[in-house]
Amino acid sequence: QAHTKRRLWTTSSFQESFPKREVNSHKGDHGRGLIIGGSQFMPGSVLMTTKAALRTGAGLLTTASVKGVISMIAGNIPEAMYIPTSEKNGYVTGIDNIDLSSFDAIAVGIGLGRREETGKEILPALLGFKGPILVDADGLYHLKSYLTDFGARQAPLILTPHPGELAALMDMSVSDLLLEPFRCSSEFAKRYNCYLVLKGKHTIITDPEGNQTVESSGNPGLAKGGSGDVLTGMILAMIMQSKSIFAGINNACFLHGKSADLLVQEKHSEQDLLAGDVIQGIPKAIRTFS
Ligand code: APR
Ligand code: MG
Repeated sequence: QAHTKRRLWTTSSFQESFPKREVNSHKGDHGRGLIIGGSQFMPGSVLMTTKAALRTGAGLLTTASVKGVISMIAGNIPEAMYIPTSEKNGYVTGIDNIDLSSFDAIAVGIGLGRREETGKEILPALLGFKGPILVDADGLYHLKSYLTDFGARQAPLILTPHPGELAALMDMSVSDLLLEPFRCSSEFAKRYNCYLVLKGKHTIITDPEGNQTVESSGNPGLAKGGSGDVLTGMILAMIMQSKSIFAGINNACFLHGKSADLLVQEKHSEQDLLAGDVIQGIPKAIRTFS
């Protein structure tokens, strides 16, 4: 095994690997993405993930959620398509009605809640999917019982925990994890054959071989509910458009932080910046850095 590397992801890394659109490209070339998430009590999360994925260039996007969430967000985002899932008491309980083979990549977990039946129905149903799967937020909570199964899949697995979520997956305390975030990330990514995005002030991105990058963009304006949900949509869109999954993840994290940085320099403060503003800042960030 070759030795692994650790480096900073910079503006030039972004510029070298950011996907350029062919002049005669069509929507199918930019990925058909599926987002599974939301619950009656967290409708905003999946709204932001959906909008962020579209703003980051996803070709076609479908969001699967409970009916109440769909009716709330469909008017707000007419560019997406929607599929109602099975539901109970406002939570997703099944996705049997969805033909997964018509999608290139899936992001699951945002705003799902932690009811047992949600995880028991959704995660086993996703195991046979042939493309990349990104798991975030409550999806990471449900994934814990299926980690070995997901690690054995051939297609890429991408996990985007904050330190609390990774510590829970590794059965350790957050303070122990933060003493050795690089070593813990590398151990976990190799063990479960996944791409791991450990979020924070300096987000650490690890590939399944243990190669690591550090993200230098972003500011404390992002330390608010919803900014992680935005990042998930951006990663989904970028991995569908990039030749390399690792570059796609890095570029999504880079743009997310740069959007927040430009907004705080020019228009907002770290106090008033909202996750929705970060989505609105994506176009400027793309123009500035590509
Ligand atoms: N500096 C730079 N970036 C930051 C900072 C900071 N001080 N704080 C947070 N960020 C960035 C992270 O790198 C990450 O991209 O903001 C994002 C925060 O993501 P999450 O921690 O997932 O937060 P979010 O999901 O928006 O809100 C918390 O997540 O898992 C659920 O149950 C949890 O409801 C809670 C929610
Ligand atoms: Mg989160």
